[in-house]
Amino acid sequence: MNNRKTVKISNEEIDQQIQYVVDINKMIKNKGFKYHIITYGCQMNVHDSEKLAGMLSAMGYTETSELEDADLILFNTCCVRENAENKVYGNVGALYPNKQRNPNLIIGICGCMMQQSDAASYIARKFPFVDLVFGTHNLHRFPKLLFDAINSKETIIEILDEEGRIVEDVPIKRNIGVSAWTTIMYGCNNFCSYCIVPYVRGRERSRQPSDIIDEVRRLGQEGYKEVTLLGQNVNSYGKDLDNPYYFPNLLMDLDKIHGIERIRFMTSHPKDLSEELIRAMAESSKVCEHLHLPIQSGSNRILKAMNRRYNREKYLELIDRVREQIPDIAITTDIIVGFPGETEEDFADTLDMVERVRYDSAFTFIYSPRSGTPASKMSEQIDDNIKKERLQILMSVQDRISKEINEAMYGKTYEVLVEGLSKNKEDMYTGRTRGNKLVNFTASEDVTGKIVKVKITQPKTWTLEGIMV
Ligand code: 5AD
Ligand code: SF4
Repeated sequence: MNNRKTVKISNEEIDQQIQYVVDINKMIKNKGFKYHIITYGCQMNVHDSEKLAGMLSAMGYTETSELEDADLILFNTCCVRENAENKVYGNVGALYPNKQRNPNLIIGICGCMMQQSDAASYIARKFPFVDLVFGTHNLHRFPKLLFDAINSKETIIEILDEEGRIVEDVPIKRNIGVSAWTTIMYGCNNFCSYCIVPYVRGRERSRQPSDIIDEVRRLGQEGYKEVTLLGQNVNSYGKDLDNPYYFPNLLMDLDKIHGIERIRFMTSHPKDLSEELIRAMAESSKVCEHLHLPIQSGSNRILKAMNRRYNREKYLELIDRVREQIPDIAITTDIIVGFPGETEEDFADTLDMVERVRYDSAFTFIYSPRSGTPASKMSEQIDDNIKKERLQILMSVQDRISKEINEAMYGKTYEVLVEGLSKNKEDMYTGRTRGNKLVNFTASEDVTGKIVKVKITQPKTWTLEGIMV
């Protein structure tokens, strides 16, 4: 068993970073410095941005929602699909005039995209006005890197090729609200043939159970009601730990924590969805009746080429077992269309699986070749127009099913955890059911942060409306 990766970072290194936090604090004292972080990609990235924000708060920066007011602009990037990358380049390029107006402005780029070979040197070449570039493996070294960037005219670049240890104790500035995220494991071992994540996030490393449990306990004490456990494949949590302790054990331990009413997790890989996990979900009163189970394709041929290590029969069996034990569970998924070699027949198999499983909703993606992944080198890349056409067809099938499922909720009453007033619907509150459906509803008093019962009066395709009862 490899112990190295789960060892906490040394106290010395933590002390060093804390010293940089103190030094920056002194440097910017009374200057009212503000930061603005732009985040692309998944919840893991959003949560990393909460850590960056936590470190910045400790340094004395405050947040601004206005780009123009910021003394520090950070791009936390994603490279899962090409369009996310193009957006970053466009938005960084657009900051050149800001930098000319305010030479003291610090512009930084970090995250998954920077872990790709050549990305950092490309940035340095193409956007020499960028001050700071770092990757995912050295997020905790941000205070030192920022210190260097403030004090240097050169672009500071630090990308580590290998994932290091898990760093605990990084301050986190979470959005105030009812729901919090916590990462339970980092990295991925699966190497799905289309996916860049294992190359930029490294191998699977699980946090120690006690660190997670302590954090969730603190969240409960701080008033959070819901926690979402994050990892690229949470189902394989614990497999790299020294003592036998796995994801179902973690769920059952978190279930006992006072104050936390709901537990969610994402993402699950079908090949690792065990009988024990299904049982733990069914037995725990706090684990919500929602499973995000990416299928990616409904064709056995394509699943094999994707290196997913399950087939449609196995996937359907899993769905049956889950629904047997948790009858009202909401099931959502990720689907890619236009994987190399995908024929009309393969695509029809995907549509067929969508009809059979009847997902509550689905994230649907056009296959995007990622340099360095096996799929990007496969012959028979699919024409863009065909990909777009298939995406439209898939989305329309899924929308119909989502609407039908939501319509069946009409007149029924659901528990909703209230996030606050709705941003789009005047005088309505907004929250989520245990199945993760967004509900806007009317209430006669302020029910923010509470769990209330809402009767559905107007089901729509993506949201529901109701009244509190
Ligand atoms: N092209 C398109 N979609 C992708 N995903 C991952 N890699 C790619 C790619 N190269 C999708 C998968 C995954 C989700 C987070 O992003 O569906 O589950
Ligand atoms: Fe990517 Fe597959 Fe790992 Fe998910 S399980 S992060 S799709 S390699």
